[in-house]
Amino acid sequence: MEKIKIATIEEVEQKKQVVKRFLGKTYVIRKDGDGYIVLEYMCRHQGADLTTGKEEKDIVICPRHKWKYNKNTGENFEGNGEPLKRYPIEIVGDKIFIILGSDE
Ligand code: FES
Repeated sequence: MEKIKIATIEEVEQKKQVVKRFLGKTYVIRKDGDGYIVLEYMCRHQGADLTTGKEEKDIVICPRHKWKYNKNTGENFEGNGEPLKRYPIEIVGDKIFIILGSDE
């Protein structure tokens, strides 16, 4: 397991959404109720970067083949049903860390 700092609480609070790219992947960090959520923002079909997709309310539409996801929860409701990968996080002070598993 690996722990990587992905954002600060201040960044997320100010911007509502923070996008980070590392290890060849795109991650989105958002508020989630009283906490925060980190989603791997890559389509579960063929890996398109969803930050380039069209957004309609709570939905993001993949720019390649139009699979649809709930941009807040990662739920996939037009596609194969596989949700966006959600990562466990740890908050230390004002820093948000993503916990990467051994499969990363
Ligand atoms: S890559 Fe997203 S629907 Fe095909």
